Amino acid sequence: MLSLLEGRRIVVCAGAGGVGKTTTAAAIAMGMAERGLKVAVVTIDPAKRLADSLGLEELGNEPRRVEGDFEGELWALMLDSKRTFDALIERLAPDAATRDEVLANRIYQQLSSAVAGSQEFTAIAKLYELDQDGDFDLLVLDTPPSRNALDFLDAPGRLSGFFSGRAIKMFLRPTGLLGRGTGVVFGLLERLTGVDLLHDLSVFFRALGGMIDGFTERARRVGALLSDPATTFLIVTAPRHDPVEEAIFFHRKLVDAEMPFGGLVVNRLHTVDSPDGAADLEAALGGDLAGRVATSAHELAALAAREAASLELLRTELGDPPTIVIPELDGDVHDVEGLALMREYLFG
Ligand SMILES: Nc1ncnc2c1ncn2[C@@H]1O[C@H](COP(=O)(O)OP(=O)(O)OP(=O)(O)O)[C@@H](O)[C@H]1O
Ligand SMILES: [Mg+2]
Repeated sequence: MLSLLEGRRIVVCAGAGGVGKTTTAAAIAMGMAERGLKVAVVTIDPAKRLADSLGLEELGNEPRRVEGDFEGELWALMLDSKRTFDALIERLAPDAATRDEVLANRIYQQLSSAVAGSQEFTAIAKLYELDQDGDFDLLVLDTPPSRNALDFLDAPGRLSGFFSGRAIKMFLRPTGLLGRGTGVVFGLLERLTGVDLLHDLSVFFRALGGMIDGFTERARRVGALLSDPATTFLIVTAPRHDPVEEAIFFHRKLVDAEMPFGGLVVNRLHTVDSPDGAADLEAALGGDLAGRVATSAHELAALAAREAASLELLRTELGDPPTIVIPELDGDVHDVEGLALMREYLFG
């Protein structure tokens, strides 16, 4: 891990859902804090008990310091997408009046919840913000549990695509949607619902219109940050068929997008000691129980063999990259002790 992180300021832990991205990200951050760096980990929907043990509260979109015996400092934050999106508006708005107008706008509130809900964009927006602030030696980014890890790579492009797209331009044209006929419809709606939708819409698009260039530029810089040589992507995976397929696909996309792939973390590998000694089992446990134990041992051996084959396939497909293997641990990793165990495997 230390050689993978040499000279890096940003580590992105990506991979399929449920493979251990969040715990890996937290354990990496912990390991580097112990080595004297000031590290922040940006977690996304951590399991409640892990969040509790890191002292993360529901609200609070800013890093908090984690108590512990670190030579450096460990900070953690739980991504709050809506707040990150609002912070982006605050930074891009040309003046306080526009900012307030947008933040108070009902259309914005609905849209930002929907867009922010996808998390991919806000995760990197937050990363960018922290990088700009420059308070940390190392930023470790967990990625959202999207079904397809690629959404994460596409997010900046999609957002700037939306803001520079035809739909929004049409709204911005003076005669666009807000022509006379529609005015009548909106007027009727207002009488029926008491909501001045037309006003909300026009404020929304007028105010946001002035920020399109800012958004596009921001998306471009976020893309540049992800491709920077000081950034590295670790692909976290479990040694099973589906996550391995996804890891192979994601790796290909990373290479195509010229983003810096650092290495593999293969999590939750099952291993078995050689399953001999059936005779001893029978002597110790008696026929019936010994038989059942032997069956489980065989099943475990078969699982371990399948996983070893998946791992082999993955390493071959990715051209034998640096690989760290973490075994299946006893019980969930939900507290600082659990993280410390993960960290042992990650840092050797
Ligand atoms: N090596 C391990 N041994 C045992 N349990 C593990 C191991 N690694 C992770 N876990 C457990 O697996 C679960 C999923 O881990 P985690 O939340 O880190 O995955 P994730 O990739 O972030 O998931 P999501 O895609 O939902 O965000 C957690 O309950 C965690 O404690
Ligand atoms: Mg997670």
